[in-house]
Amino acid sequence: MPKTTTWELPPHSGAKHLLLRRYLEAWYPKLANSAQLRGGGQLNYIDAFAGPGIYSKGEPGSPIIALTTLLNHVSFPKWGGVRFLMYFVDADEDRIESLKVQVDKVWSDLPGGKPKNIEVEIKLSSFLDLVGELKQISSSKNKSFYPTFAFVDPFGFKGLPLADLCDLLRKGSCDVMFNFMYDAINRWCGTKGDQNQASFELLFDGTRHLDVNQLEKGEREPFLHSLIEDTISEHGHFDFVRHFKMEGSSARTLYTLFFATRHIEGLRVMKDAMWSVDPTNGNRFSDRLVKQPSLFEGAPDYDNFAKILTQRFGGGTTSIENLEMFTLKETRFKESHLRQHVLMPLEGSGLIQLTNPKKGRQSRHFPAGSMIKFLTPHGDLDSV
Ligand SMILES: C[S@@+](CC[C@H](N)C(=O)[O-])C[C@H]1O[C@@H](n2cnc3c(N)ncnc32)[C@H](O)[C@@H]1O
Repeated sequence: MPKTTTWELPPHSGAKHLLLRRYLEAWYPKLANSAQLRGGGQLNYIDAFAGPGIYSKGEPGSPIIALTTLLNHVSFPKWGGVRFLMYFVDADEDRIESLKVQVDKVWSDLPGGKPKNIEVEIKLSSFLDLVGELKQISSSKNKSFYPTFAFVDPFGFKGLPLADLCDLLRKGSCDVMFNFMYDAINRWCGTKGDQNQASFELLFDGTRHLDVNQLEKGEREPFLHSLIEDTISEHGHFDFVRHFKMEGSSARTLYTLFFATRHIEGLRVMKDAMWSVDPTNGNRFSDRLVKQPSLFEGAPDYDNFAKILTQRFGGGTTSIENLEMFTLKETRFKESHLRQHVLMPLEGSGLIQLTNPKKGRQSRHFPAGSMIKFLTPHGDLDSV
């Protein structure tokens, strides 16, 4: 963790901020429009490791990004009936002071000053205490939160009760973006220390008895990723969990952002955000991209997508709607990749057939209601 109040923004943090911004650009209107239509309501944004609100060269930190994304939204003036609670927490006093200055600056730069329907709470607290407090509130009232987006962006993995946090978010319209510092755990593996063992158990609710030290190097990352995914979906009852890897200037994974939602629209928005940051794979960013962009150029691997589809649907017939849903839920690809980049080439090669409606009458390829027959047997697509 840097010792100074602010620090330099590395490219991977810029990519993380872009994902956050893109997601919030769609999350705010989705929930605020419906709250406004219902006559009012509240939305919460929680930044649990908020930081100082500014980087050393003046770039905004995550709480300021969340706030300005809301204020700059074209529909914000229409959401007068919706209360927005922005809850920013950090355990470092100087960073909290810096954040207060940055938030005040947002208000003073705004013609008309702070809008009445935004409340910003900036709190000096540890995440552990915050979760304890929220637990008490929610169990005493026995009700779910208002729609909430929680951004959990720690350094390292200490004092991080992920399972407890997800327990809190298990009801209602809650989404979470969680930064899992894989590199910190990986560095700890192989060293001895009860404190780190305790942090590890806290992260995974203490019920999982495992010894990551026993795992071979190459096994650790996929193992820990699936452990995180299981913890998030079991404790938070999230239907959709996706992750996005961040690499440093060597090809090593520094951390992985896990995103969880119960809403299919949330999943769609997050995948769009991920592909906008990584137009080749939709699932990772590397600081090497800044120095050597040519390493990362290239079209998405549509052949791989075609293989995935054939493995699943080969020899059978299915609807275009089913293919779109499968693409969204079960693959890293986007629905917009499906028709032009995969189905049309497969049709051109005679590997699939449109059975209904017949071709020619529709202006769009594979229109709604299309049934598609995969002529290749299950899993066989070597000729593509
Ligand atoms: C990765 S930085 C946050 C960066 C910020 N989210 C952003 O994107 O601009 C992590 C922050 O967590 C704070 N922190 C460290 N331990 C904490 C704890 N136990 N509880 C809450 N905040 C903590 C640090 O002071 C630091 O500001």
